[in-house]
Amino acid sequence: MTDSVRASAVESADDGAVIRTRALTKRYRGGQLAVDGLDLTVPAGSVFGFLGPNGSGKTTTIRMLMGLIEPTAGAARVLGHPMPRAARAVLPHVGALIEGPALYGFLSGRDNLLRYDAADPTADPRTRRARVTAALERVGLTAAAGKKAKAYSLGMKQRLGLAAALLQPRRLLVLDEPTNGLDPQGMREIRSLVRELAAEGTTVFLSSHLLDEIEQVCTHAAVMAQGRLIVQGPVADLAAGARGRLVVTTPDPAEAARVLKEQGVVDVVLAEDRVSAEAPPADRDLADVNSALVTAGVRVRGFIVERASLEDAFVALTGEGFDVAG
Ligand SMILES: Nc1ncnc2c1ncn2[C@@H]1O[C@H](COP(=O)(O)OP(=O)(O)OP(=O)(O)O)[C@@H](O)[C@H]1O
Ligand SMILES: [Mg+2]
Repeated sequence: MTDSVRASAVESADDGAVIRTRALTKRYRGGQLAVDGLDLTVPAGSVFGFLGPNGSGKTTTIRMLMGLIEPTAGAARVLGHPMPRAARAVLPHVGALIEGPALYGFLSGRDNLLRYDAADPTADPRTRRARVTAALERVGLTAAAGKKAKAYSLGMKQRLGLAAALLQPRRLLVLDEPTNGLDPQGMREIRSLVRELAAEGTTVFLSSHLLDEIEQVCTHAAVMAQGRLIVQGPVADLAAGARGRLVVTTPDPAEAARVLKEQGVVDVVLAEDRVSAEAPPADRDLADVNSALVTAGVRVRGFIVERASLEDAFVALTGEGFDVAG
């Protein structure tokens, strides 16, 4: 464990980024271009959501970040150090959960963790049991700790993998689809655990194809599609990038729709006493639109702009036909 990794090398080398990639590219042997020129910046202290539909290159990126596979081109730095070259110095500070954690099915959850902890040369054997007990508690596996791992459900296996990543305090946690296989309650638990870890100062990088999840827990996000980065930044900014919907509630919907179209408002949709449309651009005064409705004799009961969600932004960025529901 080198001090250069523990100390502030990150801040000086990478402007406070714990992960930084430059034109990171992976072409698999079969010719599949899985990650294509990725420039990713993960700020220290963020909960960073790595979002993208199936096959968009999330796991491939994470494998490169963790030094498990070599990039075809480009570079990745983690905690201020190049990967995979500095893997031995960097990885002790990184907890990772990557697609389907390797478990010994014939061992109990607790024994899996004891074994995992024992494989870590920096882990003090005297405090091993306490560490394992705390990790089991944190992921809600205490009651099932004695059960053989092969009898675990998918969600329980996922929790056990997460517990393994949490045995030591880490500067960075990299979680590939951490809520995969969890029920809604389990997902909530993981979300609050992620928030807790972030509050303790751990940067959390997590991949997901669930927008909702990213929106609820992440401070920053990057959106991938077909191996390429579409956008990255603070979640609030990403959502703000997509226009919200203007929603007019009125007993005169047909007339309202006509006036809105006349006003140049697009994507007008009629539904009973509601007319919605794409919110006009920022330089357009909404008061004028409202006034045009009233002048035309439309009785306006409600006139609001609903804030765009990250999902709106995602759909706007990646186009329709993307399976984002999970
Ligand atoms: N070992 C491999 N050999 C060849 N192609 C691969 C390999 N692993 C992944 N791929 C391909 O690379 C692309 C990206 O896959 P990857 O697993 O990184 O996507 P993902 O975003 O993690 O998807 P998911 O949401 O399904 O986990 C896919 O087209 C996939 O088929
Ligand atoms: Mg994946």
